Amino acid sequence: MNTLKGKIAVITGSTRGLGLAIAKAFAEEGASVVITSRSNEAVNRVVDDMRSAGHQAAGMAVDVSDIHQVRTLADFVVKTFGRIDIWVNNAGITGAYGPTIGIDPEVFSGVVNTNILGTYHGSIFALNQFKKQGGGKLINMLGMGYKKPAPWQNAYGSSKAWIRNFTKALAKENKAFKNIGIHALNPGMVLTDLLVRNEVVAGSEDRLKVFPTIVRMWAKPGDVPARKAVWLASPATDGKTGLEANVFSFGVMLKGAVLEGWRLVTGGVPPKSDVDMTVVPGWEPDKK
Ligand SMILES: NC(=O)c1ccc[n+]([C@@H]2O[C@H](COP(=O)([O-])OP(=O)(O)OC[C@H]3O[C@@H](n4cnc5c(N)ncnc54)[C@H](OP(=O)(O)O)[C@@H]3O)[C@@H](O)[C@H]2O)c1
Repeated sequence: MNTLKGKIAVITGSTRGLGLAIAKAFAEEGASVVITSRSNEAVNRVVDDMRSAGHQAAGMAVDVSDIHQVRTLADFVVKTFGRIDIWVNNAGITGAYGPTIGIDPEVFSGVVNTNILGTYHGSIFALNQFKKQGGGKLINMLGMGYKKPAPWQNAYGSSKAWIRNFTKALAKENKAFKNIGIHALNPGMVLTDLLVRNEVVAGSEDRLKVFPTIVRMWAKPGDVPARKAVWLASPATDGKTGLEANVFSFGVMLKGAVLEGWRLVTGGVPPKSDVDMTVVPGWEPDKK
């Protein structure tokens, strides 16, 4: 219950999905949490909810792709709480599913700016503060593509491979600082908007035919990876750096496979899918 008592934790992209689950788990372990996303309204709503539940929370609307906004966030946290103990670079987007040359360059750049630059911005301000105060824990979020290529999700997958290398390099550079932990977390498949609200480039729909079944079988609620994030941020990892935590819940995998198998054997009707797909036109260089 009190694993993170007195700690000050910033979680980017924490108004919904996995970031919100992590913020709640941190708060339940006694941390004061800083809620962020691009929406002022959503930030205020989540901060109010957190306070109503008896937790310490503050918030700020921030676009992580903008270095000035992330600097302002770090300054705000230090001014409000005096320090930053934990910083989770969680904010992330996927962009549309489809062939790389069919993705609108603005969408592609949006993924790069949020996932890559956002992680870079958060990391530099967090680490500077950790050095000033003599310690802290940084957690960067991995995802599909972090270990091997993710065709048709190239912007997203490549950004996650970048985050992995970036995080490992940061950990090596800062190894001498024994009180600074720099870690990566791969949360596995989590039931969030990012997973189930998909944009698909016209012509690629068939590739996602089995996706609703995969989601039904294996996606898990955010509190499962949130518990792993608590562990990474907790004293259990003191003195360690460069950890790569993977959420592989054998129980969830097995249960999903057994239920799906049973449904197939008995001819049961699949439940209504959580997955929502919007088809978007492919980008063409000659069309403005
Ligand atoms: N869901 C999965 O299956 C899964 C699997 C592996 C890894 N992950 C990773 O987990 C992280 C969270 O994903 P999720 O599934 O929870 O996504 P989500 O439900 O879509 O939530 C994303 C959060 O990030 C915020 N956000 C997006 N762009 C932002 C920006 N530029 N600046 C600040 N905040 C921004 C969103 O709020 P606004 O849109 O209002 O700004 C929202 O609060 C991502 O890094 C993702 O890659 C997820």
